[in-house]
Amino acid sequence: MPVRTAVIPAAGLGTRFLPATKVVPKELLPVFDTPSLQHTVDEAIGAGIDHIILVSNRAKPAIEAFADKASGGARITVVYQDAPRGLGHAVEITRELVGDAPFAVLLPDELMGDSSHLQDLVREHEATGQTAIGVKRVPRSEVSAYGCITPQGVPDANGRVGVRDVVEKPNAVDAPSDLVIIGRYVFSRHIFGYLASLKPAAGGELQLSDAIGAYARKGGVTGVLISCTRHDTGTPMGMLTASIDAALKRSNVGPQLRTWLEGRLQ
Ligand code: UTP
Repeated sequence: MPVRTAVIPAAGLGTRFLPATKVVPKELLPVFDTPSLQHTVDEAIGAGIDHIILVSNRAKPAIEAFADKASGGARITVVYQDAPRGLGHAVEITRELVGDAPFAVLLPDELMGDSSHLQDLVREHEATGQTAIGVKRVPRSEVSAYGCITPQGVPDANGRVGVRDVVEKPNAVDAPSDLVIIGRYVFSRHIFGYLASLKPAAGGELQLSDAIGAYARKGGVTGVLISCTRHDTGTPMGMLTASIDAALKRSNVGPQLRTWLEGRLQ
């Protein structure tokens, strides 16, 4: 079944960007000169998505204003999470709008260099019917910041690996692998059954990774290694490096920025 719908959760509090996020949603902070949410919308459209479901909360009216103006040609529907009860909850409330078709989920605080990784996930799902999740190899010392997968063997030549389980934020010693989940997914409708059975994790939130873990234990999840650049724009440092990277790639400002940086670092 083709993947035409994407869910973009944008209802979080953005506490790591306070005080900016008292007035501006994190997802609208610019990566160089373009809101990170616009980059995410463009990435989805580049992978064949034509309906985007944007999950917001009523304390972030600028998200809805953005949805009215976002360019690119996809239809955008805004739904509201009553409170930021976790990523699992944000996805679960889209159940009726999504229907029975497979769908993508893109976290807008991760910036991909292009649409190629999402295209890979879509292809994997369309070929196998499996849920396909983006994974990345990181140094062991960094696994505790992520959901970490228990892989079935090692990734094949195409970067595909079966997922047996997911452990949320393990410490480096107990981690089942150095493969972590990044914020790109293509789910079959079965994910909603696992989301409906979620219990709050430590911290009280309903975690998407717990639902993926339950799904993986039944054998329905494949990991796909990321093949493009990725920036974690959920932190001020990640946002800064993503902005510099984006500006360096622009022919109109890149050379000027490079010269300035070289002078500044001397
Ligand atoms: P994060 O946990 O990175 O975002 O969620 P946050 O909670 O806004 O950030 P901090 O930790 O307070 O700085 C990843 C994505 O999921 C959305 C967020 O808006 C973000 O885009 N999200 C998170 C929801 O939509 N609902 C939630 O309940 C939680």
